[in-house]
Amino acid sequence: MILSIESSCDDSSIAITEVASLHIAFHQKISQDAEHSPHGGVVPEIASRLHAVALPRVLAACSSFLPRVRAVAVTHTPGFAITLLEGIAMAHALCLCLHVPLIAAHHLKGHIYSLFLEKPALFPLDVLLVSGGHTLLLHAHCHENCEIVATSLDDSFGESFDKVAKMLGLGYPGGPIIESLAQKGDDARFAFTIPLAHHPNIAFSFSGLKNSVRLAIASLPQPLSEQDKADICASFQRVAVAHLAQQVTRFLRQSRYARFGLVGGASANRLLRESLQTLLDKNGKELLLAPLAFCSDNAAMIGRLGVQSYLLHEFHPLTLCAVARTERVF
Ligand code: KG4
Ligand code: ZN
Repeated sequence: MILSIESSCDDSSIAITEVASLHIAFHQKISQDAEHSPHGGVVPEIASRLHAVALPRVLAACSSFLPRVRAVAVTHTPGFAITLLEGIAMAHALCLCLHVPLIAAHHLKGHIYSLFLEKPALFPLDVLLVSGGHTLLLHAHCHENCEIVATSLDDSFGESFDKVAKMLGLGYPGGPIIESLAQKGDDARFAFTIPLAHHPNIAFSFSGLKNSVRLAIASLPQPLSEQDKADICASFQRVAVAHLAQQVTRFLRQSRYARFGLVGGASANRLLRESLQTLLDKNGKELLLAPLAFCSDNAAMIGRLGVQSYLLHEFHPLTLCAVARTERVF
């Protein structure tokens, strides 16, 4: 079995994955939404201190599996250095105690492996990764070679939901709150412009859209009515998703792979899932989705990646360090 640890942001999570069957024998995570909600986003220092308390609690819950653990996989990049270090410190200690090797897991590759939980991996594929920290298009050529081809010029997709929710006083994380409020709103009431429609390169940007939302809020009588809030959420979500769909359309013209994966915490968004399904059907490509419960950060995806690394003997010395930013190819 592989024990995997995820602490790159605000989820303290540990999983146990059987190498031979890929079965997830244990998975638990403790989220910190309530603690970060007053701040409208994740505060790394608070997240780090909460990991220090939560990770040992989750480890205690799976201690019966420890004698069967053959390697420990831990997320070491990208993420907040001080939160990654909490998971890395625990992984080092476990490797020393259990006399097993360490596997350094790349968080974004972990999200790709969320498509392959309890089943064989299917490479190559193209991927749209949408989370609080990233908005990326990448070619996942194979396990050893994932190549980022487009990123956001400013905010990420998930972050823009968090910031709009903060402007409307709705709490954190903004994605699920905005999605649910949008269902009661008129998505055509505010004619926000789709970002980067004529940009020369495939790229993403959400800061202009966020600013348009801010101006729309300021133009309305205060305090906003529930209907105003719902209409803003619906109009914002429609344009944010249309922006992703427009850039994916451009990307598909230059991609040769038949499979397309949608991953990351914000891939739980229903409008986004439906828009991409329509787009990929039109292009004759297959859309791969992670189970809803494993879209946001979790250790099960790190464990699934860990199994692949274990079988390839991709081990790392106990000098492993946290690296906040990712390389373009990983
Ligand atoms: O992958 P994730 O759990 O953490 C990071 O690696 O960042 O993604 C969390 C992000 C948050 O910004 C959250 O607001 C967003 O994903 N999110 C959503 C939805 N559910 C979560 N965004 C839009 N629609 C959703 N349903
Ligand atoms: Zn993530």
